[in-house]
Amino acid sequence: MPRVRFVPLGKEREIKAGTTILSAANKSEVPIGQSCSGDGMCGWCRVSVVDGLGELLPPGDLEQRLMKEKEFLPNERAACLAKVKGDVTVTTTYWGHE
Ligand code: FES
Repeated sequence: MPRVRFVPLGKEREIKAGTTILSAANKSEVPIGQSCSGDGMCGWCRVSVVDGLGELLPPGDLEQRLMKEKEFLPNERAACLAKVKGDVTVTTTYWGHE
């Protein structure tokens, strides 16, 4: 099963392929900003993919539109929409530093 690592929090979670990063974070009690409850509208759930960008399913139309609107960097994805297919490591600015 794919594994999602949250750095620098030192938490990780094995999840079923096709699960979102947000769902993995919620199961791991990792805080992720959100104001649209995962509807792909707010962009607050933006995370940086430190490793395994290719292990996420490609963004769908909704996420692509959000990424463009909110000017995501190439290594950033919306946690509520990005689905995992392999091991991935993510971070945000508000999780602190090692
Ligand atoms: S929670 Fe709003 S876009 Fe992801």
